[in-house]
Amino acid sequence: MAKETSKRKSMKTKKVTKAIFPVAGMGTRFLPATKSIPKEIMTLVDRPLIQYAIDEARAAGIKEFIFVTSRGKSALEDYFDHSPELENTLRKAGKSDLLEILKDTNMDSGAIAYVRQNRPMGLGHAVWCARRLVGDEPFAVLLPDDVIAADKPCLAQMVEAYEQTGGNVVAAMEVAPEKASSYGVLDIGEDMGAIVRAKGMVEKPKQGEAPSNLAVIGRYILSPKVMNNLNKMKQGAGGEIQLTDAIAEEVPDGNVFGFRFRGQRYDCGSKAGFLQATVAFGLARPDLSEEFNAYLHDMIALQKAAQ
Ligand code: UTP
Repeated sequence: MAKETSKRKSMKTKKVTKAIFPVAGMGTRFLPATKSIPKEIMTLVDRPLIQYAIDEARAAGIKEFIFVTSRGKSALEDYFDHSPELENTLRKAGKSDLLEILKDTNMDSGAIAYVRQNRPMGLGHAVWCARRLVGDEPFAVLLPDDVIAADKPCLAQMVEAYEQTGGNVVAAMEVAPEKASSYGVLDIGEDMGAIVRAKGMVEKPKQGEAPSNLAVIGRYILSPKVMNNLNKMKQGAGGEIQLTDAIAEEVPDGNVFGFRFRGQRYDCGSKAGFLQATVAFGLARPDLSEEFNAYLHDMIALQKAAQ
């Protein structure tokens, strides 16, 4: 493998500058909130989920941001636009700190593009909707409901793994065997530590049939071939067009790698995961941690006393 990897490396990989953010799902696990608020606008402390994903992509060198949206998601478009009235009011009030915070939400004209997915036909279909904007280039995919706390942002770690392998790189983490059926799972061919070469990949395997407990989470760096594979529109698990299936087609070429990222992933698409992330991000905030920590201690003590 070492020889093979360095051969790939010397072929020089094309830089990843485009990222797709599929945000067209219905977010049914957060109804009724998501009846009128896109899930991606829900906030961890004071920043919406989508902001964490955008910041992570920027830190990995992404220059073009492609959103796959659906009806009812216009709040997302407004979030990344300038807000002249608000900015003028803050400027007049001398609130330069707040103006500074707003800067992160502004995107350069043309850096962000929106395509529509008319019906929620699955993650693979959502990614395929961005095919014309991606063209013949490698691209990243970030699912904003997976929030990853890490010293070095997860996608930046993956870009390094991509430069090393030259192949498709999917973020992976060990999960409890009984949880594997909720994920795409890798069949491990060659385990090199942080990087594994996959010899198979299956979406939502039946209980007890997962090939390993190495699960794929919502960060990917993919070759244009995966986009071509999506053209076939083959329905997979749950009748949806699965991104996992399109990636798995590249496995026989030895071109799919799992990457054990360093960091803590929160599944903010689920209520429990969202609450866990809220606690973790709240405790990590210097302006809140003391008060919040004391409150949590009191809550736990009260709960114990009531038992
Ligand atoms: P999820 O299945 O976790 O999100 O899809 P969901 O469908 O919005 O949520 P629930 O299960 O109903 O609560 C993972 C990601 O893929 C996007 C979602 O927006 C989310 O970011 N997605 C999913 C699409 O863009 N289109 C789809 O057809 C399906």
